[in-house]
Amino acid sequence: MKKHLIITIDGPSGAGKSTVAKMLAKSLNYLYIDTGAMYRGVAYAYKTEGITQGTGATTSLNDMETFLKNLSIRFEFGEEAKVFINDVDVSYAIRTPEISMLASSLSQDRSVRTFLTEKQREIGASGHIVMEGRDTGSVVFPEADVKFYLDASEEERAKRRYIELSEKGINADISSVKDDMSKRDRDDSRRDIAPLRIPHGAVVIDTTGIDAKGVTDKLLKYIEGLEHNAGA
Ligand code: DC
Repeated sequence: MKKHLIITIDGPSGAGKSTVAKMLAKSLNYLYIDTGAMYRGVAYAYKTEGITQGTGATTSLNDMETFLKNLSIRFEFGEEAKVFINDVDVSYAIRTPEISMLASSLSQDRSVRTFLTEKQREIGASGHIVMEGRDTGSVVFPEADVKFYLDASEEERAKRRYIELSEKGINADISSVKDDMSKRDRDDSRRDIAPLRIPHGAVVIDTTGIDAKGVTDKLLKYIEGLEHNAGA
């Protein structure tokens, strides 16, 4: 089996993708690519500059291509994804519930998806990556070496999102976290372009009641099994 694998992890919010993708990348000494951070970065830029870019007129979704062309956005991937807009680090600011919702709604736009999908393919082309998101195994890398799809009960996913936000010092109450999450999952799954779905050939894992380390161990075992079979 080749060594520079492309590994994708997709699933709804709160399924544990980010934590597991991070742990998996660390164990394999691979690069962790958080594609959600890229959608969040575009959403943050759109909120802060889209409205005033150029002439000061409001940018409508029709102007998205021009907006993206003029956008100075840069990503750095390490243990945590970093996003820079006009060389300013906005990595913390992109994590608010407001940006979550805006990222989900802008992710329905074809120009935004094309813009970010191209970047994701460039970053991942030579492999050695764990890429996590909603369409990484179905659209970005349909030929990925290993594809996972993580899911969990709605109750548990809402609890995880809530804890994640609290740990980041972001205020939210559990019922609005749950409502936002349900809406976002519905929109992400029903959109016309690159909807959230189980990629063809993906290994599906229900993470309800399993901690991140337990899930990561399952994924590692699966990958080791593939390597073993390929070497046998
Ligand atoms: O994974 P996240 O919560 O950071 O993602 C934020 C939003 O970005 C998500 O609701 C939908 C969008 N997204 C997407 O459409 N495709 C991806 N590969 C990753 C995220």
